[in-house]
Amino acid sequence: MSIRPQQPAPATPGPGRLRITELAEMKARQQPIVMVTAYDAPGGRLADQAGADLILVGDSAAMTVLGHDSTVPATMDEMLILTRAVTRGARRPLVIADMPFGSFQVSDEDATRNAIRFVKEAGADAVKLEGAGPTLSRAQAIVGAGIPVMGHIGLTPQSATMLGGFKAQGRSAEKALTLLDDARALESAGCFSLVLEAVPAAVAARITAELSIPTIGIGAGVDCDGQVLVWHDLLGLYEGRTARFVKRYAEIGDTIRTALESFADDVRGRRFPQEQHTYAMPADELTLFEQAASDQSEYADDRH
Ligand code: KIV
Repeated sequence: MSIRPQQPAPATPGPGRLRITELAEMKARQQPIVMVTAYDAPGGRLADQAGADLILVGDSAAMTVLGHDSTVPATMDEMLILTRAVTRGARRPLVIADMPFGSFQVSDEDATRNAIRFVKEAGADAVKLEGAGPTLSRAQAIVGAGIPVMGHIGLTPQSATMLGGFKAQGRSAEKALTLLDDARALESAGCFSLVLEAVPAAVAARITAELSIPTIGIGAGVDCDGQVLVWHDLLGLYEGRTARFVKRYAEIGDTIRTALESFADDVRGRRFPQEQHTYAMPADELTLFEQAASDQSEYADDRH
């Protein structure tokens, strides 16, 4: 059963969904906002059941789910499928689709067209765009089309090469000021919220205090208005090197591996399936079947 409407319209929240305006109210009340990434329907459902406020269908999927070495290869088609799956599973949290590299860099029109696809085809409530500079007019154009936009500055993985790798940003006074300027500009462009990734905690705290929109930190200290972690990092499912800011709350990868080993052992030892996993048929039907099968075999033997 689909929980969300099949054809959601922009700015038309589904029943039971968190209102986007609630996020600014949470900031004002100093109530921390919880965001987590998810990439499929069970993930959306579990994040909802756990009380997450926001679910980001991150382009981190390129690495965590699709096995790439960076987020750059994620495509619109892949992100649409993953976002659609998450919105089928999640009811209360707002679902934010991460616009993949190439989907918003070319022009405001292109960016708006792709953002609209996330809302119309995948049921997303909002989209996220990395960067400032040219991203500002993209954000403005998308907001103008009625779609809420989350900004993302600091370490922006889509431009990691330009930034000199996956490393913390804004560690000099000059760079920190640029981040503050970018944050203000994204707020003015109409963003409803801003991800701060891998920036010094003191810089994130200052940005958070200056903005009226909530900041969501990842590697940005405790003073952000909310925090986000990537599903696979948080749950211990990602085997690559993880960043300093990751905290693993479980080792689900180990649990899955152990379960799969038990399954393989049972299959090889013929301990699975057992009677309760097996279908039977009425004895008289079985007798008829066996008789008919034997007759067919004899007929086939006679013909050879
Ligand atoms: O793609 C992603 O998961 C993200 C988060 C790290 C914020 O952008």
